[in-house]
Amino acid sequence: MIRALLFQVFLGLVAADNGLSAWVRYAPLANSHHFHYAIPSKIVALNTTETSPVYTAGQELQDGLQGIFGKQVTVEHAKCPAASSVVIGTVDEYTKVYGKLQNSPELVEDGFWLSTKGSEVQILGQNERAALYGAFEYLSMLAQGNFSQVAYASNPSAPIRWINQWDNMDGSIERGYGGQSIFFSNGTIVQNLTRATEYARLLASVGINGIIVNNVNANSSLLNETNIIGLGRIADAMRPYGVRIGISLDFASPMEYGLPTFDPLDPSVIEWWTNKTEALYQQVPDMAGYLVKADSEGQPGPLTYNRTLAQGGNLFAKALQPYGGIVMFRAFVYNQLNESDWRADRANAAVDFFKPLDGEFDDNVVVQIKYGPIDFQVREPTSPLFANLHKTSTAIELEITQEYLGQQCHLVYLPPLWKTVLDFDLRVDNKSSIVRNIISGQRFNRPLGGSAGVANVGTNTTWLGSILSQSNLYAYGRLAWQPAQDPESILQDWIRLTFGLDTNVLNAITQMSMESWPAYENYSGNLGIQTLTDILYTHYGPNPQSQDGNGWGQWTRADHLTIGMDRTVTNGTGFSGQYPPEVASMYEDIATTPDNLLLWFHHVNYTHPLHSGETVIQHFYNAHYSGALTAQTFLQLWQTLKGKIDPERYEEVLFRLTYQAGHSIVWRDAITNFYNNLSGIPDEAQRVGHHPWRIEAESMTLSGYMPYAVSPFETASNYTAIVTTSNTTVGTASTVLAYPSGTYDLAVNFYDLYGGISEYKIYINDKQTAAFSADYVDVARLGHTPSIYLDGHSATRITFPGVKVAKGDTFKIVGTPGGIEPAPLDYVAFLPAGVVD
Ligand SMILES: *[C@@H]1O[C@H](CO)[C@@H](O)[C@H](O)[C@H]1NC(C)=O
Ligand SMILES: *[C@@H]1O[C@H](CO)[C@@H](O)[C@H](O)[C@H]1NC(C)=O
Ligand SMILES: *[C@@H]1O[C@H](CO)[C@@H](O)[C@H](O)[C@H]1NC(C)=O
Ligand SMILES: *[C@@H]1O[C@H](CO)[C@@H](O)[C@H](O)[C@H]1NC(C)=O
Ligand SMILES: *[C@@H]1O[C@H](CO)[C@@H](O)[C@H](O)[C@H]1NC(C)=O
Ligand SMILES: *[C@@H]1O[C@H](CO)[C@@H](O)[C@H](O)[C@H]1NC(C)=O
Ligand SMILES: *[C@@H]1O[C@H](CO)[C@@H](O)[C@H](O)[C@H]1NC(C)=O
Ligand SMILES: *[C@@H]1O[C@H](CO)[C@@H](O)[C@H](O)[C@H]1NC(C)=O
Ligand SMILES: *[C@@H]1O[C@H](CO)[C@@H](O)[C@H](O)[C@H]1NC(C)=O
Ligand SMILES: *[C@@H]1O[C@H](CO)[C@@H](O)[C@H](O)[C@H]1NC(C)=O
Ligand SMILES: *[C@@H]1O[C@H](CO)[C@@H](O)[C@H](O)[C@H]1NC(C)=O
Ligand SMILES: *[C@@H]1O[C@H](CO)[C@@H](O)[C@H](O)[C@H]1NC(C)=O
Repeated sequence: MIRALLFQVFLGLVAADNGLSAWVRYAPLANSHHFHYAIPSKIVALNTTETSPVYTAGQELQDGLQGIFGKQVTVEHAKCPAASSVVIGTVDEYTKVYGKLQNSPELVEDGFWLSTKGSEVQILGQNERAALYGAFEYLSMLAQGNFSQVAYASNPSAPIRWINQWDNMDGSIERGYGGQSIFFSNGTIVQNLTRATEYARLLASVGINGIIVNNVNANSSLLNETNIIGLGRIADAMRPYGVRIGISLDFASPMEYGLPTFDPLDPSVIEWWTNKTEALYQQVPDMAGYLVKADSEGQPGPLTYNRTLAQGGNLFAKALQPYGGIVMFRAFVYNQLNESDWRADRANAAVDFFKPLDGEFDDNVVVQIKYGPIDFQVREPTSPLFANLHKTSTAIELEITQEYLGQQCHLVYLPPLWKTVLDFDLRVDNKSSIVRNIISGQRFNRPLGGSAGVANVGTNTTWLGSILSQSNLYAYGRLAWQPAQDPESILQDWIRLTFGLDTNVLNAITQMSMESWPAYENYSGNLGIQTLTDILYTHYGPNPQSQDGNGWGQWTRADHLTIGMDRTVTNGTGFSGQYPPEVASMYEDIATTPDNLLLWFHHVNYTHPLHSGETVIQHFYNAHYSGALTAQTFLQLWQTLKGKIDPERYEEVLFRLTYQAGHSIVWRDAITNFYNNLSGIPDEAQRVGHHPWRIEAESMTLSGYMPYAVSPFETASNYTAIVTTSNTTVGTASTVLAYPSGTYDLAVNFYDLYGGISEYKIYINDKQTAAFSADYVDVARLGHTPSIYLDGHSATRITFPGVKVAKGDTFKIVGTPGGIEPAPLDYVAFLPAGVVD
C-alpha cells in the first residue's frame, strides 16, 4: 500500500520534455532507492579512444546511472576489480585484460553478451558497436525497472539494418514531416552536426548500423570535392555510435561532371566511379556503401544504354568491393502503363525486371524490395519478388515516415502492418519460406540481407514531427534486429522508456497504438483497394478518383457496377502467378482470397458478398464509420492521461489526436460519399449522406460569402463549401438554430490552405462564443504536405466542447480571409453528448 502511494508521488514529477531524447531519456525511476544493491559503482570501458563505440558506451552508462538513479559513477578504461562494476568492451579486449571467459558466448557480427549478477555486470560485444548495443539494452532494462539477473547472447537476424533518409541538398526532405534536413542545407553539408550525433545515438540504441544520408532521387553535386569532405564530417559525427554512412547515387553523374556518357560498361565511366569511390573512402574510410534508384520514376539508369540493371548494379559493386562496401539496388522499377489494357499491371514490374537477372548481381549487391508490389500502401500482399530471387541477396524496404499513412498527423503504429509481410510464408518449393528468413539470408543461403527503413527525420525536436510516431522508428530498429519479435511487446518497451511506468499510461497508449493501423485502414481504403489518397498531389487526404485514368498503375478500376483489379492468371493481369504455387492458387481463387485483399486480386460487383457476409459496398460504409469512430476513442483515451504525462508532450499529442479525430471524419465522408455516388447503392444503415446534426454553410444566410463547388466533390459535405467573395472581404454566415435547447459540442469544418491564415469568430446571439485561426499548416503545427486548394487535405475540423444554445438562438460565424485563403467553411455541427456526425 505504502509502496503504491510512493509510486504515485514519484510519477507526479514528470519533467517537461520536447521529444528530443525520445526513448533514451534516462528519466528518474520511481523508488530507485530500493534497487541500489543492483547499481554498479564503477564502469570499466575497455577502450581509451574517444571515437570508439566502447568509449561512448562508458559515457552512456554513466549518464544513464546518473539519470535513472541519481548516482554518480566513474568511468575507468583499465582493468579494475569486476565486483560491483559494469565491464564493457569487445570479447577480444576483455579476454586480453581479464583472461578467457568461462563460457564463450556464440556471437555473430554485431552480437553482444549481457550478464547481470546484482551490481556485477558484463557487456561484451563481438565488435565495438556491439558492446554499445549491449549497454543500451542494459540501460533499457534499468529504465524500465527490470532488475532481473540475466546472462544471454543477443545476435541480430541480419547484417544490414539501415535507415534511408530522403534528404535533398537544399535542406528539404522528400516525404519528410518533421522539419528540414539535419544534414544538408543550401547545397552542402551543414556546419553544426550535433543533431547527426544525437540521431546516431537513437539509432544505435535500437541496433541500427547504417544510414543512407541523401535522397534516392539523388543529386550529383553531392560528389563534388566540398561535399565529399562534408560527408567525412557526417561520418565522424555518427561514428562514435557505430553508425556507418552511405549515400544515394545519381546514375548519370559522370555525364554531369563532363564525360560524354554514363554507360556502365564504358571504361571511362568505370574509371570515373572508381576514382570517386576512392575519394569517398579517403574521407569516409568505413563507408557502408551506395543506394541506387535507377531507371525508375524518371531517374537515369543502365537501360538508357541497353545494359541490364545487373550491369548497372555491378558497376558500383566492383568499385566498392576493395573497401568492403555494398550496393543496395532498389527493385522499385516500373513503367507508365495504359489503363485500357486489362492485363497491364504495375504490380508485375519488379518480378518482370529482376527475376531474369537472378544470379547476375555481384555478391556485394543487395536488391532492396519494398514490402508490397506497389508503394507503401495501407495493405498490400507481400512482394512476390522475395520468392523469386534465390541467387541474389535481398533486403526489405519499410517506410517509417507515414507517406500514405497519415503523414505523422494520424497515429498509425506500423509494425502490425510490417509483420503481415515479415511473417508471410511464400512457400517456395512447398517449403517454409517466411520473408524474415529470406531477408536474413537463411532461406536461400545468402551472405547478405536485412532491412532498410525510410525514416526522413528532420530538425523538429520530435525528429519525425510527432512524439507518438517515434514508436515506429524505435520498433523498426527492434524488428530489424529480430523480426520475429512481437509488435505489442516492443511497443510497451517504447511506452515505458518514453512515458514512464504508470500502467494507465501503458494501457491507454498500447490500446490506441494497436488499434491505429486497423482504424486507418478502415477509414482510408478497405479490402485491398489501397490507400485511397491523392496519388497525384500530396499523398495525404482522400481522393479516390486520382488512382484511375492515369499511367501510374495504382488503379482501382471502379465504375458504377464493379471495383477491383483482376490480377488472376485466368482472366486478369497474371500477377497472382508470380507467387509460388501454394500461394498463387490461394489468390487465384476468389473463394480462398482473404477479404482484406479481395479487391487487390479480383474485380467484382459492389454487391459481391464477402466471407464476412457483408457486401463489398456495405463493408466500405461500415468500415469507414467504424474506423472513424475508433479514432474518436484515441482522443478520449488520451484525455484520461492528463496529469500523468508532462504538459508539453500531453498537449502536443492532444492537438494531433484531436485533429485526427476530425480528419478521420473527413476521410469517412469522402470515401463513403464517393462510392455511394458512383454505385448508387444506399447505405443500409442510412448514415451516408444523412447528417442530422449538421448545418451546411451554404444553407446559411450569407453576406460577403458565396457558395463554392469543392473539387473533388466528395470532400465537402453536400459537395459545397462557402468562400469569401474576395480575399479582402470579410464574410458572415448566419442562421437560426432549431436544435432543442441544451449543451453541445460545436464542430466547425473549414479548409486550412497553405498560403494564408484566415481568422474565424463565432457568435451566438451576437455574443462571441469561440474564435480560431486556420494556422495548422502555415506555421507547420501539423507538418503534413499542405494543399493550396479546398480538398481532402485541407479539410479540417475544430471542436468547441460544451456550447450552450437555446432553440431559436442566432448562430453567426465571421470569416476574415488571409493571403490566398478565403476563410473557407464547409459546415458546422451541434453534437449532443456521444454523437459523432
Ligand atoms: C579502440 O577503439 C578504436 C576506435 O574505434 C579502435 O580503432 C581500436 O582498435 C580500439 N582498441 C581496442 C583495444 O579495442
Ligand atoms: C527483463 O529483461 C530481460 C532481458 O531483456 C527479459 O528477458 C525479461 O523478460 C524482462 N523482464 C520483465 C519483467 O520485463
Ligand atoms: C548558399 O550558397 C551560396 C553559394 O553556393 C551562397 O552564395 C549563399 O549565400 C548561400 N545562402 C545561404 C542562405 O547560406
Ligand atoms: C559543391 O557544391 C556546393 C553546392 O552547390 C557548392 O557550394 C560548392 O562550392 C561546390 N564545391 C565545388 C568544389 O565545386
Ligand atoms: C549546434 O546544434 C546544437 C543542437 O541543435 C545546439 O544545441 C548548439 O548550440 C549548436 N552549436 C553551435 C555552435 O551553433
Ligand atoms: C581518375 O583519376 C586519375 C588519377 O587522379 C586521373 O588521371 C584520371 O583522369 C581520372 N579518371 C577519370 C575518368 O576521371
Ligand atoms: C540490346 O541488347 C540485347 C542483348 O544484349 C540485344 O539483343 C539487342 O539487340 C540490343 N538492342 C539494341 C537496340 O542495341
Ligand atoms: C516541430 O513540428 C511541429 C509541428 O510540425 C511544430 O509545431 C513545431 O514548431 C516544430 N518544432 C521545431 C523545433 O521544428
Ligand atoms: C474478364 O476480363 C474482361 C476484360 O478482358 C472483363 O471485362 C471481364 O469482366 C472479366 N471477367 C470476369 C469473370 O471477371
Ligand atoms: C454483377 O452484376 C451484374 C449487373 O447487375 C450482373 O449481371 C452479374 O451477374 C453480376 N455478377 C456476379 C458475378 O454476380
Ligand atoms: C446543398 O447544396 C445545394 C447547392 O449548393 C443547395 O441548393 C442545397 O440547399 C444544399 N443542401 C443543404 C442541405 O444545405
Ligand atoms: C489575395 O490573393 C492573391 C492571390 O490569389 C494574392 O496575390 C494577394 O496578395 C492576396 N491579397 C491579400 C490581401 O492577401
